[in-house]
Amino acid sequence: MNEQELREMVNPVFNTAKSCVQLDAASGDEDSRLLLEQLGFGAFGDDTENKAIPAGMVEQIKKLFPAYTILVESRFQAMNRLVESMADRTVVDLPCGYTSRGIRMFRRERTYFGFDLPAVIDDIRPATEAIIGNNTLVSYHGADATNYDSLETAFDDNARNFLITTEGLLMYFAQPELEEVFSNIRRLLQKHGGSWVITDRAYFLYDKEVAAAALNHDPQLTAMYEAITNRAAATTADVTFNGNVFFDPDEQKVRTFITKMGFLLNEINMSDYLPEQIGSLKGNPDADAAVREVFKKMTFWELTVADNTAAEPIAANNLPFEVKSSVKDGTLEVSIQGRMDTITAPELLQQFQNAGTDIKAIHVDVSRMPYVSSAGLRVFLMMCKSLENKDHFKLSGMSKEVREIFETTGFDQLLL
Ligand SMILES: C[S@@+](CC[C@H](N)C(=O)[O-])C[C@H]1O[C@@H](n2cnc3c(N)ncnc32)[C@H](O)[C@@H]1O
Repeated sequence: MNEQELREMVNPVFNTAKSCVQLDAASGDEDSRLLLEQLGFGAFGDDTENKAIPAGMVEQIKKLFPAYTILVESRFQAMNRLVESMADRTVVDLPCGYTSRGIRMFRRERTYFGFDLPAVIDDIRPATEAIIGNNTLVSYHGADATNYDSLETAFDDNARNFLITTEGLLMYFAQPELEEVFSNIRRLLQKHGGSWVITDRAYFLYDKEVAAAALNHDPQLTAMYEAITNRAAATTADVTFNGNVFFDPDEQKVRTFITKMGFLLNEINMSDYLPEQIGSLKGNPDADAAVREVFKKMTFWELTVADNTAAEPIAANNLPFEVKSSVKDGTLEVSIQGRMDTITAPELLQQFQNAGTDIKAIHVDVSRMPYVSSAGLRVFLMMCKSLENKDHFKLSGMSKEVREIFETTGFDQLLL
């Protein structure tokens, strides 16, 4: 198995970003079209015919494309305009996915840092470079948002006044991961200043209304949209969706969480930042007007650090990551040191795969592992599932904090 395949196995979420750049290109964004060509992903929907969908359904599903396109186009373009209105900020795009924002920022002579999982960065970096060349304004960095060091190493100590942009990220995290991400961003903002702008709550609340408006409120299409997207989001990423407090329908709970994590919340109306011409609704003025009405209710959530002395980083005891493994009499003995996340988990998966197929028992010492993300949990599950007798999978030395992660993600039921 090569490195890319290992990465895909530990965190398949990055697949969701492919359709975003395809949809941005479909909406008529020229930079996205150029980038898509470089990336070689093909156009959105090209593979619909190849999927296990009954022939009659394909035509129906294609009628939903305006809804998919408007959701991604509006998010991307409204954020572009917001970023452009804050001209003195250093743009920190987390996650950048495969979007063309880096190209757009280059054309406006802005400093731009694109962060995403290494699997994405390995593709977006050369594809963007092929369009704008190697330059000092735009750079891309492989990172895991739950891992502070992987973010911080990209910056000079004196980098200042960040605008961290987050579109389409927080829904993939379990609660402990969400808390890590909030803590990490708080540390970045404490050190470098600036604010963090998130679109995810707005789309959680209003995506179905936006889609219905784009579909001219056709009842059959709207119902089909709701049924398909709920399922597709979860299966593409192979992870639970909206499973943390940021997506609690009770807004008070989210606000309490934001305060607890040491942030202040400022809401910015999104409708003010929509482009004059929404590309995907060209020629459909009724839908355009209806979509703009929905956007009057939608807000960017801008977070700033509330108080520089509160809320210490969660996982301070980060030892360098290391996996040691050996096989004796059919038992794979593993010891893990450091955080297990999307960046580090492929190493464990690799050593597990190198151990061969004659393994009858697995013992993992996690006493020096302070944190595990969904990616790490997924590797443990693969190891456990490989055994004929699941009781022969043992984790030892687990800290109270790590046990809590197992419990809140439900992996305790599968593994402990
Ligand atoms: C739905 S896409 C959105 C990407 C981009 N903002 C856009 O609008 O096209 C979700 C992105 O989150 C990235 N991602 C998921 N988990 C991550 C993590 N732990 N750290 C950094 N990026 C992550 C995925 O690789 C993927 O590119």
